[in-house]
Amino acid sequence: MYKARIIATGGYLPERILTNHDLEKMMDTSDEWIQKRTGIKERHIAADNQVTSDLACEASKQALKRAGITADKLDMIIVGTCTPDMTLPAVALHLQRKLGAGKAGCAAVDMNAACSGFLYSMATANAYIKSGMAKNILVVGVETLSRIVNWDDRSTAVIFGDGAGAAILTQDSGKRGIIASELHADGDYAYLMIAPGNGTFHAPTGNYTKIHMEGHDTFKIAVRHLENVSRSVLEKAGVKPEEIDVVVPHQANVRIIGSVAKRLDIPMEKCILTIDHHGNTAGASIPLALNEAVENGRITDGDMILFNAFGASITWGSMLVRW
Ligand SMILES: CC(C)(COP(=O)(O)OP(=O)(O)OC[C@H]1O[C@@H](n2cnc3c(N)ncnc32)[C@H](O)[C@@H]1OP(=O)(O)O)[C@@H](O)C(=O)NCCC(=O)NCCS
Repeated sequence: MYKARIIATGGYLPERILTNHDLEKMMDTSDEWIQKRTGIKERHIAADNQVTSDLACEASKQALKRAGITADKLDMIIVGTCTPDMTLPAVALHLQRKLGAGKAGCAAVDMNAACSGFLYSMATANAYIKSGMAKNILVVGVETLSRIVNWDDRSTAVIFGDGAGAAILTQDSGKRGIIASELHADGDYAYLMIAPGNGTFHAPTGNYTKIHMEGHDTFKIAVRHLENVSRSVLEKAGVKPEEIDVVVPHQANVRIIGSVAKRLDIPMEKCILTIDHHGNTAGASIPLALNEAVENGRITDGDMILFNAFGASITWGSMLVRW
């Protein structure tokens, strides 16, 4: 019985840092409010000449190098993003070209599940690997949210940041790898967070096409779903909360992470927190946090890792991995 194992990770954050104090000069907000309500101190913002696939490429190159394989050996590239370079082609194809693997012709596709995009992409990669349809898959979570943030709306502008995280998944028949996962969505809640630009719905310009979020309602629903889906994945795998060594949650709000950890009875010290210096990077937040935890030695061989994510509008999921 095969499963997908993560053999390497990579990450990339754009050079420019936007602090809460910088935001104080741009809008009616304060460092104190942002830190208290979200846990964020600063976020990274892509340069004007960088697009989403550029960020993805940097993170992917690092992951490939660490895995010791070249891009032409990949069977598939899956990119979780809600901020693509353009409508067509998908980020995964721009990425394939930038990695110099176009001629090798592996499958390449984007998955838009907002902040749950990386977990959706990982679960899809696992299904392909388990079925024997692929052996090596590059999974990327990447966002350039700064391009679709409404900088006139302080309730959303202070939250988001840009970045990319990548993982190389390979076929494994041992104990390590993805043990269980569960994905959900409920389109009835589309109104909670919407970015209506660049589609066939309408084509006006201006802030109407940018992100709009009902933060307060989203918060409450997120906590409930994250608790339930995490419990469900643990039960499915026969793993008790106390057996979890590390939690790598989506970094939307430190208060959401804390509430879910408390409900699951998992100590906050086991949760990887990057929100203070990354902000909320949507689909990139989990792979960036994972990469940082691996680099810092917070994750070691044999660890049981719980992932969970909640995104617009609305998607959610959880995954259990034996590292
Ligand atoms: C967005 C979020 C941080 C807002 O925090 P909140 O505590 O819910 O804040 P509210 O929207 O209830 O607003 C509370 C007050 O702060 C004010 N406020 C909002 N943004 C502010 C800012 N950046 N600076 C200062 N004050 C702000 C509001 O105007 C409101 O003022 P009022 O009480 O005078 O009306 C929080 O709701 C959140 O994290 N939501 C979930 C996000 C999420 O998970 N999204 C999906 C995945 S990305």
